Formats: sequence, structure tokens, C-alpha cells
Amino acid sequence: MLLTDKRVLLFGGKGGVGKTTTSSAMAVLASQRGKKVLLVSTDPAHSLADAFDREIGDNITRLAPDLDGLELDPDREVEQHLAKVTAQLKRFTRPEMYSEIERQMRLTRQSPGAQEAAMLERIANVIELGLKDYDLVIFDTAPTGHTLRLLSLPEAMAAWTQGLLNANKRSEKLGDVLGHLTPKAGRDVDNPLADPNQNATDGMDARNKAITEALLARQRLLQRTREVLTDSSRTALLFVLTPEKLPILETGRAVQSLLQEKLPLAGLVVNRILPDNADGDFLAARRAQEKVHLAQIEHDFAKLPRYKVPLQATDIQGLTALQHMATLLEQAGL
Ligand SMILES: Nc1ncnc2c1ncn2[C@@H]1O[C@H](COP(=O)(O)OP(=O)(O)OP(=O)(O)O)[C@@H](O)[C@H]1O
Ligand SMILES: [Mg+2]
Repeated sequence: MLLTDKRVLLFGGKGGVGKTTTSSAMAVLASQRGKKVLLVSTDPAHSLADAFDREIGDNITRLAPDLDGLELDPDREVEQHLAKVTAQLKRFTRPEMYSEIERQMRLTRQSPGAQEAAMLERIANVIELGLKDYDLVIFDTAPTGHTLRLLSLPEAMAAWTQGLLNANKRSEKLGDVLGHLTPKAGRDVDNPLADPNQNATDGMDARNKAITEALLARQRLLQRTREVLTDSSRTALLFVLTPEKLPILETGRAVQSLLQEKLPLAGLVVNRILPDNADGDFLAARRAQEKVHLAQIEHDFAKLPRYKVPLQATDIQGLTALQHMATLLEQAGL
């Protein structure tokens, strides 16, 4: 169902539970079933490259037939995003405002949420491109808190955009004042106020309109993303956890807030379950403990589909290992 119907899959979960491995294997599985898949990571650690055991980076990279990968780098996104916004603002603003714009951008770079804001616009663009060129876009998201913030950001971003629009209205007034004080070309520099009405608002409306349009376009893009991400007919969020106490507790909290955010939570991947044939006293004790946790998972998350994946003897790295993991996901019912 998930792999036949959905257009966007997102993986969440506590650090180290297997999000990258699961999302990569899921991408392999979907491509084997004939889907054209784009696998995207927003993790600064370049984990897709580790999972596939090859370089990927910020360019769409062919990983297997019908499977492309892309690693977004949050730091780079912030720099590129701010450079773009700065250029945009400068294009529409009087040179007198440039230093103010640069000051604002320096503050923005350090402000909480700057990375997420920049990242989200990129994610929004990747989703638009993905929906156009691919059957399925799979996101291997970074750990829980970050993911939750990221996904709830379109609304925060709308507020941020609104803030910029208001700031623009204020700076329009400031620009207006500056306009009066700035000698016009060919005029008497000793008497810049000689003709305060002429040109005072010349071009101002068009300029203001252009900034406003750029900001509104961004707001609309994020709104569309929000719509895609909260639409359960197109998007599914899978949460990965291991049968251990802390991941269970964290998953409980995350499930609550995901449901609050109205994100389409489609199930849990319970990863790294000790296989039945693992032997020895130590593993028997471990398995007894695990049984308690698995029962807890069944109890706490009874309403969600649960896909169970066994622990493997070795790490899962490279396409062949991921293909094997894909078989395990298939056996788990995905
Ligand atoms: N079922 C499994 N059996 C054996 N090893 C596994 C299994 N699932 C994942 N691993 C291994 O566990 C390690 C962590 O997995 P992975 O990188 O997918 O976790 P993650 O949730 O993406 O971590 P992070 O939060 O750091 O991004 C990797 O070395 C991976 O190969
Ligand atoms: Mg990872």
C-alpha cells in the first residue's frame, strides 16, 4: 500500500535506530518494484553516502536503475539561501539600504531556525521537482526533534515571511525618507530637498510590489509543501525504533506530536529484533528483555501498523546489503 499509493515517504526516529538504512532499503525496494525513486537526506553527516558506500553530495546521483540520491547540506543551504535572499532584496532596494540588509542577514544567519528555514525552502523545491520527475520521493530525515521542527515549520515560515513583509513596509517608509535626502542625479547636491515631491515615490510601488511578490511566492511554495506533507493520500511518515526502553519512550512522545501536527503517520518500523536462531545464554537473556519491550510496543502502538525487521549479523552497507535489507522489509509487509 505504502509503496504503491504514496508519492512522499518520510522516516523519523531516534538517533541510530536505522532511519538511513531503512529509508535506503525502502528506496531500493520501491525501485525494484518499478518506481522511479528519489532518495533525499537532510542529515549533515552524509549518511546516504555511507549506506550506499559511495559519494553522493548535493547533486542528483544515480545509485541504481530507477534510483537517484541527493544529500542536502544544511550549512550550505543557509549560505546559499541567505545569499539569494540578500541578492533579491538588494535588487529591489535602494543602495542606501544595503548595509541594513547585510546587518539583517548577519542576524538571520545566527538566529534560531535559520538552518531549518533555509532547509525547508530547499526541501519544498526538492518535493516539487520530485513530484514532477519521480514516482516516489523518500526522505531520510535527521533525528526526531529536528525533524519535528522541520515539518512544523511551514507555518512558522509563513509568520517569518509576514515579518519580512512588515519590515519591508517599514523600510519603505525609511527608504522614502532616505529618498528625499538623497541628491538626485544631475541635481544640485547642496540642495537635495529642492524638489521633495518629485521622484520621492517613483519606482517605489513597483519595487515594493516585487519584494512582496518574491516573499509571497516563497510563502505559497511552503504552503504547497505543507499541503503535500499533511495529505495522507500522498504522504506517509514511518517511524523507526528499536525494541529498547528509550526509543519506545521517545517514539511515544513523537507519535503524540506528529498526530498533533496532523502529519500522516503510517506505521512503525521495529528494527533490529534479535532473530530466533541467535543462540547462547547471553542472547537468551537479551531476548527475554526484548520480549518485554516488544510487548510494550504492541501495547503502546496498537493502533499503528508495525513492520518488524530482524537484527543482522553485520552492518548494512553497500547496494547488495541494502538489497538484502529490502527483502527483509518486504517480508515485514512493506
Ligand atoms: N537491522 C539491522 N541489522 C544490523 N545492523 C543494522 C540494522 N539496521 C541498521 N543497522 C546498522 O546500524 C547502524 C545505524 O543505522 P542508521 O545509520 O541507518 O541509523 P540512523 O537512524 O540513520 O542514525 P542517525 O540518527 O545517526 O542518522 C548502521 O551501521 C547500520 O548499518
Ligand atoms: Mg541516519
